[in-house]
Amino acid sequence: MGRRIWEHPILDFSWRGRKVKFYFEGRVIEAYEGESIGAALYAAGIDVWSWGKKTGRPRGPFCNIGKCSSCFMIVDGRPNVRVCIEPVREGIRVERQRGLPEIPKAWSDEVREEEVFSTDVLVVGGGPAGLSAALEASKHGVEVTLVDEHFRLGGQLKKQTHKFFGSRELFGGLRGFQIAEKLTAELASKENVRIFTRTTAYAIFDTSGPIEVGLANVSEGRLMRVRAKTVIVCTGAQENYLVFPGNDLIGVMGAGGAQTLMNEYGILPGERVLIVGAGNVGLIVGYQLLQAGAKVQAIVEILPRYGGWFVHAAKIRRYGVPIYTRHTVKEALGDERVEAAVIVRVDEKFRPVPGTERVIPCDLLLLAVGLTPDVRLLAQAGCEMRWVSELGGWVPLRTRYLETTVRNIFVAGDCAKIEEATTAMLEGAIAALSAVMRIVGERPELVQRREQLLRKLEEYREAPVLARTREGLKKVLIG
Ligand SMILES: Cc1cc2nc3c(=O)[nH]c(=O)nc-3n(C[C@H](O)[C@H](O)[C@H](O)COP(=O)(O)OP(=O)(O)OC[C@H]3O[C@@H](n4cnc5c(N)ncnc54)[C@H](O)[C@@H]3O)c2cc1C
Ligand code: FES
Repeated sequence: MGRRIWEHPILDFSWRGRKVKFYFEGRVIEAYEGESIGAALYAAGIDVWSWGKKTGRPRGPFCNIGKCSSCFMIVDGRPNVRVCIEPVREGIRVERQRGLPEIPKAWSDEVREEEVFSTDVLVVGGGPAGLSAALEASKHGVEVTLVDEHFRLGGQLKKQTHKFFGSRELFGGLRGFQIAEKLTAELASKENVRIFTRTTAYAIFDTSGPIEVGLANVSEGRLMRVRAKTVIVCTGAQENYLVFPGNDLIGVMGAGGAQTLMNEYGILPGERVLIVGAGNVGLIVGYQLLQAGAKVQAIVEILPRYGGWFVHAAKIRRYGVPIYTRHTVKEALGDERVEAAVIVRVDEKFRPVPGTERVIPCDLLLLAVGLTPDVRLLAQAGCEMRWVSELGGWVPLRTRYLETTVRNIFVAGDCAKIEEATTAMLEGAIAALSAVMRIVGERPELVQRREQLLRKLEEYREAPVLARTREGLKKVLIG
């Protein structure tokens, strides 16, 4: 567990420059600047990150992107810091927390006057959708504020090593992490853009006039409040869990969570891996694990055929990895950590077929069983939601121009429907133009650009693999 990768066919880990030391429950941990605290702990062999609130059983990381709450720790006396999205720093003191921690007395829940500010466009989330939204808005003379709870911008693009399809305008030929770097650098050069990383938009308080949004930087104990003329929510998605005995063992992880450790931080999340789910994420992560030096024991898929693209499945098969369709995981075996998993064949009604069980030894059991849009902020703000299974669950109703049922709150990317990064970027730019037009009026050049982008998005969505999304979108369109 936690072996650092130094040689990789695509990724270059020479960013690992300066070494830093920090303290974990009295032990000195060596890390590299640019890593999350969680990644450094994992590399140091520390994989018990918390304990189940009811069971008291040890828990390891699951998502590694700030969504699952299995990594709350106390950092320099401040509780509830998600160490998977918090950077290592020289000399910090980190300890695990059991149960609900004491809130330090010195903390105030008052927002200081100097921490209240206004902006024209607030973008929540700096993944492909949010970066694209902030960049587009910044080109039209308005004040833009971008917040992201991670310490680095880029969202899920940061861990994507495959080359994107499409035209140059859609970043065709570039790898995901390269697109993240490019957009982040471009945004940093804009004078009318304020960027807050390590900052969570935790609530929308008032939508009657300017939209009041609460921002918190937990690790600095800093609360802010922003009054925004318009808000674009781009909070992404979280990975789904599965119910089976042993699913809380250390080593049961989201496939995207493993991808984060491996591709963003160069830390091999496990040596022998079983993957549940042969959609694109399962297949891509399986291939990337092989590239990074892990052994992928098998991929199991409950459907009669894998759901990901043929090209990804073919790459996996070339390595001799079996893909067992009509199979699922029945149980994870182990004491505190996964040591093996029982897989089983299912019948046409997805019921396990007795006698078909087999035990697969593994120390990492990855769940690649879909994503759920992160709509918490939108739902809390009162945006009307609808359950649309084709789009990943509860999603906000929206107009063609991506405005929700709450005036001046717009959406883009995975929080609006599970799709992919290119469409997230196109949506981000469309939502930005809609927000800008609320402020500066419907200038013909803005209307024209938005129509061009809408056409591009529609053309892109004509791809057969996006047929389900197209169907789902018909159910949420209003106005
Ligand atoms: C775990 C995972 C793995 C994936 N792997 C692949 C892959 O291998 N290949 C592929 O083609 N596609 C993959 N995708 C899909 C693709 O990456 C997404 O469709 C795309 O990144 C969506 O972009 P987004 O900007 O909507 O969300 P994201 O890229 O998820 O960005 C959301 C951002 O919002 C921030 N955020 C969330 N909530 C708040 C808040 N309240 N306050 C402040 N900031 C907040 C997050 O920190 C994050 O940076 C993956 C998606 C996920 C979730
Ligand atoms: S929130 Fe940190 S591992 Fe999920």
